[in-house]
Amino acid sequence: MSNKKIHKTGDGSHTLFVPELNEFYHSAKGAYSESMHVFIGLGFNSVSSTGDIHIFEVGLGTGLNCLLTFIEAEKRNLRVIYQGLEPFPLDWDLVSNLNYSSILDYPETDILLKKIHQFDTGRWYDVSKHFSLKKVKEKIEDAELEPCKYNLVYYDAFGPKAQPEIWNQENFEKMFHCMKEGGVLVTYCAKGQVRRDMQSAGFRVERLPGPPGKREVLRAVKL
Ligand SMILES: C[S@@+](CC[C@H](N)C(=O)[O-])C[C@H]1O[C@@H](n2cnc3c(N)ncnc32)[C@H](O)[C@@H]1O
Repeated sequence: MSNKKIHKTGDGSHTLFVPELNEFYHSAKGAYSESMHVFIGLGFNSVSSTGDIHIFEVGLGTGLNCLLTFIEAEKRNLRVIYQGLEPFPLDWDLVSNLNYSSILDYPETDILLKKIHQFDTGRWYDVSKHFSLKKVKEKIEDAELEPCKYNLVYYDAFGPKAQPEIWNQENFEKMFHCMKEGGVLVTYCAKGQVRRDMQSAGFRVERLPGPPGKREVLRAVKL
C-alpha cells in the first residue's frame, strides 16, 4: 500500500505528497504550471537540434514531464529519445487517479500515461514514431551513463533538504559528462549551493524567472 497522497495544486492539477519526506512531487502552487514552465518552456523549447533529441530525466515520478514532452514533441514534429530514471516506481492504481487527462488538452493522455507506467523497466519502447522511452530503475548516485549522449536533462529529484545526497557536485559532474556539448540541464531548484556545485562541475548556470510562487529556477548549459 502506498502512503503517498493525491493533492490538488494551485492550478487545479494533481501532484503527490510524501508524508515521510514532507515533500510534494511538484510545486504545490501548480504541478502542471511548474512542469510546463521549467521543463518544457526553459528546457525542451530551448534545445535546438536538427536530429533526435536525447533526454534524461532524474526522477520520472508521475510521468508528467514525460507526458508533456511527448505532447510538445508531437506538436512540433520532433523526435525524442527519452530515458527516465526512477528507483521507486509508482503504482498504477495511484497514478491512474491523477487528473492529468482533464487538465491537458490532449485526448490520449490516459492511454499515454498508462503506457509510461506499465512499460517494463530496462528496455526501449516506441511509444509512437516520434517518441521512444526507456525507464531505468536506478538511483542517480549509482547510474553509469554514456558520455556525451544527452541534449537535455530534467533534474527533478526531491529537494536538497529531503535528499541532500542528490544535489552535489559529484552528481552534476556525472550529468556534465553524459551531456552533449551545448546540452541543457533544467531544474526547479535555485539554491545557491546547488548553483555553485553546478558551476564547479563545469556548467555555465543561469538564474531564470520561476513558475508561480517561485522567484527563480536554474538552467545549466554545457559549453
Ligand atoms: C520531485 S519527484 C518527481 C517528479 C517527477 N518528475 C514527476 O513529474 O512526477 C522526485 C522523484 O525522484 C525520485 N527519486 C528519489 N530518489 C532518487 C534517486 N536517488 N535518484 C533518482 N531519482 C530519485 C523519486 O522517487 C521521485 O519520483
